Amino acid sequence: MAVTRAPGAQHPSPNPWVAALTPAVHGALDRSVAEENGVSPDHVLDFSANGNVIGPPEAVGPAIAGVDVTRYPDRRAAMLARALEERHGVTPSAVVVGNGSTEMIWSVARAYLAPGDVALVVGPTYGEYAAASAAMGAEVCDSAVMNDVGGATPHVAAREDEVAASVRRRLEHVRPRVAWICHPNNPTGAPFPVWALPEFAAASPGTLFVVDEAYLPLCDALASALPAVAGGRVVMLRSLTKDLALAGLRVGYAVAAPGVADALRRVTPPWSVSSVAQAAALAALADDEHARRARAAVTAARAHLSDGLQRLGLHPRPSVANFVLVRVGDGPAVARRLLELGCAVRDCTSFGLPECIRIGVRAIHEQERLLAALASVLRNEG
Ligand SMILES: Cc1ncc(COP(=O)(O)O)c(C=O)c1O
Repeated sequence: MAVTRAPGAQHPSPNPWVAALTPAVHGALDRSVAEENGVSPDHVLDFSANGNVIGPPEAVGPAIAGVDVTRYPDRRAAMLARALEERHGVTPSAVVVGNGSTEMIWSVARAYLAPGDVALVVGPTYGEYAAASAAMGAEVCDSAVMNDVGGATPHVAAREDEVAASVRRRLEHVRPRVAWICHPNNPTGAPFPVWALPEFAAASPGTLFVVDEAYLPLCDALASALPAVAGGRVVMLRSLTKDLALAGLRVGYAVAAPGVADALRRVTPPWSVSSVAQAAALAALADDEHARRARAAVTAARAHLSDGLQRLGLHPRPSVANFVLVRVGDGPAVARRLLELGCAVRDCTSFGLPECIRIGVRAIHEQERLLAALASVLRNEG
């Protein structure tokens, strides 16, 4: 596709849409942010990123200590891809491994989006879908269908029907080339109606549906988009940074039908997953018991956190994930005050929810500290 650039430019100029790009906003406490707020990052409990409560499996340490870092890693992480294909019971070559699932988001955008295309973001949600789509020059249509914040506990099945109907309408209206879906959704903690994917695919024949299941392995008995992948219109994304607590190592993957997986491989750089990350992931995946313990710990911690928030008079959004969204009034102000008290939470302004914060689950005694700090902030605010 030809791209129109400024005529007669003396120097090579970036693509015309690049100047308008803005980076996605993320949780996870940066040292610089803590220091700017006058707190020592070493003394802050980080509830702004979403983890698994119990940390990585023990086998990870010895596995990475034995890696020969003088050698290049396998350029496509072939052993890890094979292990993941076996785990999911999918055909050989269905898995494409990347530097976190975020790299796979960018690979999908690179392979499928170009100027003139429309990408539908089923939001409010993770910011990298819009960022990657915009970076390819596509038009981003942000649709806040998952936005149901606070209030009484909705009946999940009824809500899923509403979400499905709303997505169907958006698809008919927008006819996107790519539809980005997060299941369960960050930051709302709500499941997406994956049962409706075949119907969506039939109704919108030109659309590739990307279902990001970064948090799904930490949820109890939540249906996956995996059965829809074989049809060739759905890509499932998974991350190892959440359930296996390997955020610093950067491993994620896509599961796709052969033609789609081939396209993703063509646009993903070689060696993007380091030898250390590949060794850690293989060791961690072998520990099924750890995954079960992490799920149980997340479920218990989420119940403790939600109960504690309710005791403070708040209405946390029902969540199936390892984080909870709650309306607190002035989200940025509450997040700032909590940081001064040694607890980082995610201010949700970038999701279009400035009245909310998102709290990732942690150990119960750490959550007690957060709840005490929040009680003090709310007392002083009120
Ligand atoms: C929905 C979602 N997908 C993906 C990611 C990032 O995953 P990874 O670390 O595998 O790039 C995040 C991180 O916050 C997320 O919220």
